[in-house]
Amino acid sequence: MNQPHVRPLKLGVIGDPIAHSKSPVMHEAALRESGIAGEYAALHIKPDRLAEMIAAVREEEYRGINVTIPHKENVMRYLDELSEDARRIGAVNTIINEGGRLIGRNTDGIGYVRSLKEEAAAELEGRRIVVLGAGGAARGIIYALAAEAPERIVLLNRTTERAEALAREWSDLAEIAALPADRAAEALQGADIVINTTSVGMHPHVDDVPLDPALLRGGEIVSDLIYNPLETKLLRLAREKGCRVHGGLGMFVYQGAYAFEYWTGVPAPVEAMRAAVLRDMNAGATK
Ligand code: ATR
Repeated sequence: MNQPHVRPLKLGVIGDPIAHSKSPVMHEAALRESGIAGEYAALHIKPDRLAEMIAAVREEEYRGINVTIPHKENVMRYLDELSEDARRIGAVNTIINEGGRLIGRNTDGIGYVRSLKEEAAAELEGRRIVVLGAGGAARGIIYALAAEAPERIVLLNRTTERAEALAREWSDLAEIAALPADRAAEALQGADIVINTTSVGMHPHVDDVPLDPALLRGGEIVSDLIYNPLETKLLRLAREKGCRVHGGLGMFVYQGAYAFEYWTGVPAPVEAMRAAVLRDMNAGATK
């Protein structure tokens, strides 16, 4: 087998907090499975040390870094180049070090769409999509969905103005409309896919739902970005109604898969990555 990297690859993730990140186990499994020597560290970086850390990424020859909360927006100012999607989404979750030149990309949205297509909806063209939420997570998802030529995307958000602003900002990308949360019934009429990008239903608030499940007809695909729990209450109720459901674990795995592919140039071993995350989650649950 070709060994494209002479030195062990140095990779990692920066965030605050970072202790519970599943990225290290996922990427170390990917390196092992691909036969690539390297290591992936969890780096706890407070906001006041971000600039210093980015300098270290350059100097210590990290090949790649993932970026998570709260640095995804602030890190952009320290990079040499941004991909078009990272620039328009306004957030970077993956840095690639090309010989000292740091390139920022966003793999959250494309990772989500790859997961949705592989696990629930092979074709998004012509689909009518409802997105719940209009925050940072929604931005990445909507940007990537728009590239799939859906018939329309309707945004429903607690704060209507935020959804309206986003629909206006990206009116060049797709047919995007915003409706107030109290017009959810109207938004859901004829929807093919409903996607929750809010944190409603996330551990420990597992009994909350971001949408009145009575509004679901039963034929839609219902997708939730949350992966803790693996099946949110929204997904459970949707499944019981006959909807096809799609959880957030795949998005996490595929955002990592794209990052891994940018860093190494080899296809990510997606199933080994997913299995490593699930193993780690199960180990955590029994601790
Ligand atoms: P993230 O990066 O996770 O998207 P964010 O930018 O703070 O975080 O956005 C959170 C999203 O979840 C927003 O759409 C927010 O609605 P508002 O714009 O009205 O704040 C939504 N959200 C969070 N908590 C919510 C709740 N309890 N009920 C309804 N929507 C909620």
